[in-house]
Amino acid sequence: MSRMPPMPTIPLSPSHPAYVCPSLPGDAFATDVLEGLARTPKTLPSVWLYDRRGSELFEAITQLDEYYQTRTETALLAECAPALAAAVGPNAVVVEFGSGSSRKTPLLLDALDKPRAYVPVDIADDFLDDAVAVLARRCPGIPMLPVRADFTRPFRLPPQLKDTPGPRLGFFPGSTIGNFAPAQAAAFLAHVGKILGTSRRMIVGVDACKDASILVPAYDDARGVTAEFNLNLFARINRELEGDIPLDAFRHEARYNDAASRIEMHLVAKCTLDVHVLGQPFRFAKGESVHTENSYKYGATEFRALASSAGWDVERVWHDGARRFAVYLLKPANAA
Ligand code: TRP
Repeated sequence: MSRMPPMPTIPLSPSHPAYVCPSLPGDAFATDVLEGLARTPKTLPSVWLYDRRGSELFEAITQLDEYYQTRTETALLAECAPALAAAVGPNAVVVEFGSGSSRKTPLLLDALDKPRAYVPVDIADDFLDDAVAVLARRCPGIPMLPVRADFTRPFRLPPQLKDTPGPRLGFFPGSTIGNFAPAQAAAFLAHVGKILGTSRRMIVGVDACKDASILVPAYDDARGVTAEFNLNLFARINRELEGDIPLDAFRHEARYNDAASRIEMHLVAKCTLDVHVLGQPFRFAKGESVHTENSYKYGATEFRALASSAGWDVERVWHDGARRFAVYLLKPANAA
């Protein structure tokens, strides 16, 4: 057997300011809101829920009794981390999409053999900086290369990574994959496959199909945190886009759409009303809603088919005892 060439020296320093992805246009929020409110039915892309306040409220959602997903997935990851790490091997560059608070990341970084770098990708930039600072203290010695980007649109990895050897491990927990429509989820997985390259793997957390009596409260909690999270989108529009939307004229609603296997989040007008955003008028009929989020649920067969349509095979899957949630390890399709 020939000797391995020596590993090149790591060109990465321990911390970097966020790489702001050039594909992030400044007025995308305005464009999305003006278009979304002019449509019938009215819709707004869920990515705009995550300003600083939204990110903090989402953090609070993950701690709610009703929101079983976070604790179930965290326990699963703790359990399967050694097996994941063994499958991935040494020197991995970990790229997390929609990293938020990066709370689950240490479970992975601690288990991996000599991880090379951690690349959190998130749209909420000051929240991202704080999360990276916490993680850098928790996992010293692992270079952190934050990327500020909207991962629902095409984005790039920081250029410094080009010279860093090692497998690329995508990390996509939290069932965030369920916030894409299935066709977009497949496009995302295919895009990520290209970005991560030939020695790629991907860990994806997926919420499973289950009864509406469990799902609906997870998206409409008794304390109203999810309602506040959803309504914060209107507060943000009022603040950033000269909006005059009266928040108390709307109520939060979580609906289970059985045919599409998804939870839908809506903001429903309690009465007829006229509002303005950036000088444009929009009319709401009583009971009319703005659809702000979907959360698709997948069985193992459906998720395998989705991954396969995007060039990935399921290498392994872990479920909790009640089969509420699954963690998938994906590898390139047709790889040994
Ligand atoms: N990925 C999470 C999910 O679909 C996002 C989420 C959880 C969420 N609770 C929410 C999004 C409430 C909007 C509102 O479960």
